Amino acid sequence: MAVLDLIKDRFSPYEFADKSITQEDLNTLFEAAGKAASAFNEQPWRFVYALREDGDSFKNIHECLVEGNQGWTANVAALVITVISKKYAKNGSENTVAKHDLGLAVGNLSVQAQSMGIHLHQMAGIIPQNAIDKLNIPEGFEPVTAIALGYYEGDSGVKERKAVEDFAFKGIWK
Ligand SMILES: Cc1cc2nc3c(=O)[nH]c(=O)nc-3n(C[C@H](O)[C@H](O)[C@H](O)COP(=O)(O)O)c2cc1C
Repeated sequence: MAVLDLIKDRFSPYEFADKSITQEDLNTLFEAAGKAASAFNEQPWRFVYALREDGDSFKNIHECLVEGNQGWTANVAALVITVISKKYAKNGSENTVAKHDLGLAVGNLSVQAQSMGIHLHQMAGIIPQNAIDKLNIPEGFEPVTAIALGYYEGDSGVKERKAVEDFAFKGIWK
């Protein structure tokens, strides 16, 4: 079995086509995200998003990005801030794998997007306090990353990867 094209062909563009994403398509992406596995089925991921057409809400999210990421994202079709719930709702203890589960959800979202011709560019470069203040993120939740979404019309930008033997070790660490 070969690796799925949906996985192999994904890459993160810096330039996007001047084309909107519909609310319906975004909903499908979030639905895919929500199907991810999570510890105790806690589903600790949350997403605050805006479409470019949304004006002030888009601007608010854009202002949560560090300067270096604001430059190339001014006209993307949609911006998302990803958030985790820091504690398990069931017992109040720290959810040490919340970011792991958020990553799974974004992984799902990413594969679903690839199947719909939509590209993602994720960002660690956010200003978390701006997100908390501007987006009304409550106590107990933590903004983690941002995602730019849009269509892409250029050539493939698939990047090099490590060889499997450099990160998957049979039996003992090598
Ligand atoms: C969690 C995460 C944080 C990232 N942060 C940034 C960022 O702040 N700015 C940026 O330009 N790219 C960022 N990237 C994009 C990576 O640089 C990119 O995914 C990586 O170089 C691999 O390229 P590919 O996604 O095209 O395969 C981030 C990616 C991930 C998954």
